[in-house]
Amino acid sequence: MKIKNICCIGAGYVGGPTMAVIAQKCPKVNVTVVDINENRIAQWNDPDVEKIPIYEPGLSEIVKEARGRNLFFSTDVESAIDKADMIFISVNTPTKTYGIGKGMAADLKWIELCARQIASVAKNDKIVVEKSTLPVRTAAALKDILDNTGNGVRFQILSNPEFLAEGTAVDDLKNPDRVLIGGDIDTTEGKEAMDALVSIYASWVPRENILTTNVWSSELSKLTANAFLAQRVSSINAMSELCEKTGADVEEVARAVGMDSRVGPKFLKASVGFGGSCFQKDILNLVYIAKSFGLEEVADYWEQVIKMNNHQKRRFAANMVRKMYNTVSGKKIAILGWAFKKDTNDTRESAAIYVTDYLLNEQAEVVVYDPKVTEEQIFSDLNYLGTRSDEENRRMVTVVNSPMEACQDSHAIAVLTEWDEFKELDWKEIYKNMLKPAFLFDGRRLLDRKTKEEIGFEFYAIGN
Ligand code: NAD
Ligand code: UGA
Repeated sequence: MKIKNICCIGAGYVGGPTMAVIAQKCPKVNVTVVDINENRIAQWNDPDVEKIPIYEPGLSEIVKEARGRNLFFSTDVESAIDKADMIFISVNTPTKTYGIGKGMAADLKWIELCARQIASVAKNDKIVVEKSTLPVRTAAALKDILDNTGNGVRFQILSNPEFLAEGTAVDDLKNPDRVLIGGDIDTTEGKEAMDALVSIYASWVPRENILTTNVWSSELSKLTANAFLAQRVSSINAMSELCEKTGADVEEVARAVGMDSRVGPKFLKASVGFGGSCFQKDILNLVYIAKSFGLEEVADYWEQVIKMNNHQKRRFAANMVRKMYNTVSGKKIAILGWAFKKDTNDTRESAAIYVTDYLLNEQAEVVVYDPKVTEEQIFSDLNYLGTRSDEENRRMVTVVNSPMEACQDSHAIAVLTEWDEFKELDWKEIYKNMLKPAFLFDGRRLLDRKTKEEIGFEFYAIGN
């Protein structure tokens, strides 16, 4: 089966970049990305390609090349479903905030809505691809909904989890370590559907890097991959605390351990804690699934990764207060970086939100600078916590457009995102304009201790 028309439901951090790359690499396939969020679609269609809603290095160039040729963004979900031979579901699957599984299980209401909409619109056979990260066995629920429409349309359901990381999405999509496709390997129709998706990716991914498995393995592999990655960060962060007590240096430890080829050097960077929309949500989801099968030890094991991460964020903020003579009340603290990592404007679950909240509880005055995050987003993140009112947050927090302005007259600086530009700042000038002693807390191990101490900073970094 040759795919001519693809529809992707969800124009977010995954749907947008993934479909842009498919459209670029498969110019003969029409790709329509749809979303119920009109504002988001309007931004994707903005004539000024730099105004697309997601900042990812290299993305605007691809959108510029493919948009209007074979890449389209629309709010007309039904017509895109109707035309498509293959439909990717790439909607959000956040942690449930209500009812059974509150605070743990994935909220699948958007997924189910998509399935029902596909079921009601489809007039011919379609392949439905789970692109969102989903609990294992979700495909069975989708199939139930799709197969009960009574209109004779046949659906094949594939699982094709996405492994891109934000900030490097384009590169990850163009050169993936692997592409994973799960499907019904026991039937001819299932195999045909898998082949159709394989042939899309094979336009640019070497065939040996495209793995095909049964649906359940594919669904579970995605949760497992994120759990393993997050676990590495929590493992090195646990060691960072021990390093601070013992005179060991976490970077030296990470290098020594990472050179063991069985461990490997990547993803061993100690930090103020991992953020992002997925690690926490996916591990909580895994914990919930394990608990629902009565696997308490499995659940406890993975839950510890989250506990460690929460501890890391809290202890970083607590350490700031402790070093500043146990009070930050009325002190001006500059936060450099709000995004959950560099090269993205995404702030979901960013450690900066929690560190700032802690400091505000201690009555600090916080000034924030981030090169890509808007003021509106910063207040929305703080308000979402519900710790204090919008007015109070706005009274205690100021968002500025330059790092120099953020640091002016401050008692302390906390570097919370590893933006490259922070390395190049005029740190002598910053020091000059601060109150003394001038505290500098590096939550990313971005800055060089020696030169900062030579300037005169009271310098503290995670892990030594
Ligand atoms: P997102 O919130 O950025 O985008 C989801 C979009 O889906 C939103 O724009 C929303 O309006 C839209 N949507 C929701 N319901 C809809 C419906 N019924 N019809 C049309 N549009 C609808 O989310 P995201 O970060 O792109 O994540 C999507 C999925 O991919 C999640 O399951 C996530 O776990 C997974 N994932 C994310 C990343 C990442 O780096 N962000 C990486 C891999 C996997
Ligand atoms: C992560 C995974 O890396 C992707 O493979 C996956 O597709 C994605 O989640 C997802 O499912 O959403 P992402 O969250 O975008 O990608 O970014 P990462 O690079 O994984 O970073 C996550 C967090 O961990 C960031 O806050 C980062 O600063 C932190 N981190 C990462 C560390 O503190 N130390 C490290 O060594 C690596």
